[in-house]
Amino acid sequence: MSTFQNLKTEIKDGIYFLTVNRPDKLNALNRQTVVEIGEAIKEAIADKNVMGVIITGEGQKSFVAGADIKEFMSLSAEQGKQLARSGQQIFQSIEDSPKPVIAAVNGFALGGGCELSMACHLRVASENAQFGQPEVNLGLIPGYGGTQRLTKYIGRTKALELTMTAAMIKAPEALQLGLVNYVVAPEALIAKCVELLNVIKTKSPEAIACSIRAINAFDETQAGFEAELTEFAKCFTTEDIKEGINAFVEKRKPQFAGR
Ligand code: COA
Repeated sequence: MSTFQNLKTEIKDGIYFLTVNRPDKLNALNRQTVVEIGEAIKEAIADKNVMGVIITGEGQKSFVAGADIKEFMSLSAEQGKQLARSGQQIFQSIEDSPKPVIAAVNGFALGGGCELSMACHLRVASENAQFGQPEVNLGLIPGYGGTQRLTKYIGRTKALELTMTAAMIKAPEALQLGLVNYVVAPEALIAKCVELLNVIKTKSPEAIACSIRAINAFDETQAGFEAELTEFAKCFTTEDIKEGINAFVEKRKPQFAGR
C-alpha cells in the first residue's frame, strides 16, 4: 500500500479507509492532498481485496473545511482554472469508481469538503456535521463540481440559496434536503458506513459497477462543469477575491468593492 503525506490509509475487512489528515488546518485540501486522494482512489479500485471505500477526516471537528484558501492567493485566472479542472477530474474519478465510495462526514464539510462528500456515492453524517458552499465569502464560487452536484442533489431552489448566502446547514437539514443518506451519533459514524458496505458486499460486484455507471449516466453532461470552470477562473481576475482571501487570512470581515 502507498504511504501518503496528507492521508492515512488502511485496508480492513475489504474496506479501504481513507482519512484526510491535516487536522490543524481542519483537513483543508491543498493541491497535494487532492492529488493524493486521486492516487488512493486509484489504488483502492485496482486492489482486488478492496470492495469499497470510506472517506473521512481526521479528528472530531472537521471532515474537510474546504480547499486550502492560502493556495488561492495570487493565482491567475488560468492557474485557477487548471486547479479547478484537476480537482474536478479527481472528484469525478470518485464518482466514477466502480466500487462504492461512502463519505463519513464527521464535522465541517465546507467548500471543497462538501464537494468531496458529494462526489462520493453515499454520505453518512454525524450529528455534528455541517455542510456549506461558503466560497462567495471569499469572492469565489465552488470549483470542484459543487455548482453541479449540489443542484442535482437538492435542487436549484436550495442550491442557489446555499451558494449565494454561504449558509452552513446542520446534519438534520442536510438529511431533510436529501444531501445525506443518514445522520448518526458521532461514535456510530464509521460503523454505519461499514454496515452499508457490508450489505453492498453481499451483492454482485459487477451489478454494483453497472448500477453506478447507469445512475451516473442519468444526467451526463459536461456543459455545467465547464461553465463552473469558466466562472471560477473569472473570479481570479477580480479585486474581490484578493479582499476575500486577505480578510480570511487576517481573520476579519471582507469589504467587497464589487469589481
Ligand atoms: N483553507 C486553509 N486553512 C483553513 C481552511 C481552509 N479552507 N479552513 C480552516 N483553515 C485553518 C485556519 O486558517 C486555522 O489555521 P491557523 O490555526 O493556522 O490560523 C485552522 O484551520 C483552524 O481554523 P479556525 O478558523 O481557527 O477554526 P474555527 O473553528 O474558528 O472556524 C471554520 C472553523 C470552518 C468556520 C473556519 O475555519 C472557516 O470558515 N474555514 C474556511 C471555510 C471555507 O471558506 N471553505 C471554502 C474554501 S474555498
